Amino acid sequence: MAETAKTAVLQEETRIFNTPQWIIEHSNSFQWMKKKGFKTEMEMRAWCSENYVDFWDEMAQSYADWYKPYDQILDDSKNPYFKWFLGGKINVAYNAVDRHAKSWRKNKVAYYFEGEPVGDKKAITYYELYRAVNKMANGLKSLGVEKGDRVSVYLPMIPELPITMLACAKIGAIHSVVFSGFSAGGLNSRVTDAESKVVVTSDGFYRRGKPLPLKPNVDTAVQDAPSVKNVVVVKRTGVATDMVEGRDIWYQDLVAAQSDECVTEELDPEDRLFILYTSGTTGKPKGIEHAHGGYSVAPAYTTAWALDVQEDDVFWCTADAGWITGHSYVIYGPLCLGATSILYEGSPDFPNLGRWWSIIEEYGVSVFYTAPTAIRMFMKAGDQWPAKYNLKCVRILASVGEPLNPEAYMWFRKNIGADQAPIIDTWWQTETGCHVIAPLPMTPEKPGSVAFPLPGFNTDIFDEEANSVPLGYGGNIVQKTPWPSMLRAFYKDEIRYKKEYWEMYWDVKPGTYLAGDKATRDKDGYWWIQGRIDDVLKVAGHRISNAEVESAAVSHPKVAEAAVIGKPDEVKGETIVAFVIVKEGVEETEDLKKEVAKHVRTVLGPVAYPESVYFVKDVPKTRSGKIMRRVVKAKALGKPVGDTSALANPESVEMIPLIG
Ligand code: PRX
Repeated sequence: MAETAKTAVLQEETRIFNTPQWIIEHSNSFQWMKKKGFKTEMEMRAWCSENYVDFWDEMAQSYADWYKPYDQILDDSKNPYFKWFLGGKINVAYNAVDRHAKSWRKNKVAYYFEGEPVGDKKAITYYELYRAVNKMANGLKSLGVEKGDRVSVYLPMIPELPITMLACAKIGAIHSVVFSGFSAGGLNSRVTDAESKVVVTSDGFYRRGKPLPLKPNVDTAVQDAPSVKNVVVVKRTGVATDMVEGRDIWYQDLVAAQSDECVTEELDPEDRLFILYTSGTTGKPKGIEHAHGGYSVAPAYTTAWALDVQEDDVFWCTADAGWITGHSYVIYGPLCLGATSILYEGSPDFPNLGRWWSIIEEYGVSVFYTAPTAIRMFMKAGDQWPAKYNLKCVRILASVGEPLNPEAYMWFRKNIGADQAPIIDTWWQTETGCHVIAPLPMTPEKPGSVAFPLPGFNTDIFDEEANSVPLGYGGNIVQKTPWPSMLRAFYKDEIRYKKEYWEMYWDVKPGTYLAGDKATRDKDGYWWIQGRIDDVLKVAGHRISNAEVESAAVSHPKVAEAAVIGKPDEVKGETIVAFVIVKEGVEETEDLKKEVAKHVRTVLGPVAYPESVYFVKDVPKTRSGKIMRRVVKAKALGKPVGDTSALANPESVEMIPLIG
């Protein structure tokens, strides 16, 4: 870290793209700027950040309805346990569903659901969503779920996923969505940590034309999860499914018996809305907690300002709701705005690489938000696929999850955005709950840069001593002031929360949030993200912990130890490579390599599958036994390994093969 803080970084990108005036003038943020009388974008950004408490107050009034107005906007007296909107009463489900179902938006489409099998489609209006949410909320209540109880949601991207999340929110239960690409092991650790009462899943889902089972993972995962009283199963594919008498119930049967009216709980803004497990540096996933008040405000504000979603737009965020992007920009942000979104179940390349573009054409998608890994996959496949479709409807493009390299930026701009749509590259995290650094439609763009911190944020780049680094220098991304959709704690672990995010600068500048990413600013002040400071992998945009993959590998009976690194990959950003030490007397065979990779897939899920496995006799470690993944990675990729003086076993470095 110290190295980066001292190194001046020259950004070579000199291209600047200006958004057409009609897109700028039509944009929500531009109109707000004009209304307030700011002369320039930078003047507006600066004012909103300096006056962040007033700014968030205005956003909370503009984007959310309150059962009872709050008396205090922010309580920062117990730093870093910040509280927002004290004394108010609210529920995000009211803001996302009820108020629209009771307004002129009643028959407006909330979701166009597009199943993977071609032709499997359904439009769901706000009124239909309201009734479905009420039925499920009553269904959960009938199973004994009460305010504060946890419900794990392990579903593919089908309408029952948002419906279940909103049903939990409605009754004050806390949802914990687990990405369906995790398997039994990944699900088990997340269900047991949350002590969930109910797991909601489906019999299966469609992937690349095939119905695949999902429920068997739940059966394995809940075997030693004593908190789980019921498993609710959505019938999606109709595959034969074992149901455990007294524990399992079909979703369709559960809701059929319920009333379509259900009272929405009037909650304290700090009442927890959800837990979402994310990866950190240890093998134990962190249960990030988010609150109702903040989530009723910040996702809606950023959906309106950064993504510029408007009343008559058709918005498509391709993220799975198992990750934070889905929570904020498939569910809460667009629904709180009363917007129309696409919900797509399947993979981008089924039945062929034209599927996404055919959906954009068919529904007239005007705002399209996706990930660099997908853009690079399409770029590799060739321009002919999008060229077959009419994509003139697209006004705004956006990206998230990892750096959008300039080449992919240019391809996206030219082939999907008709060389005119701005590309809103949004930097944020599970922890932040909403976009933090991003261009607005009016911002002149530099390909590969995330532009500037958004209005309302005081984001900076610090060196080790908590000094803001000058332009051209790199350092740690920090937040100097709180924001409404910030993480509140780790579930059952407030101490680790304080230690991981707030301790670094506590003595000098208490209340400084350490994001865990490095960045630099160029001579014009544009921000460039340089990657994580810790051992966290980004595989196809999915956040996976090296340590979690290592512990899955070590759970194989023949494996003694493992070190996992990310290998740069043109399409996925990174792929997983495992260096494995086998137990005494075990033969190192090609078959065993495959077995270990398969084992990790079984334990954690396809999302954590190691692309390659290498056998080694030892891995570099510190004297306290910590694997030095930085050294393993440098040696494997043929880069300088740097200082190895802290190693207990420097000879092990030579044993790491070059992986090419
Ligand atoms: O390293 C940053 C990277 O993704 C991390 C957050 O991952 P996660 O919590 O899974 O949330 C992903 C979706 C918000 C960050 O610490 N990251 C996210 N967006 C960008 C990014 N890196 C570069 N550019 C981005 N736009």
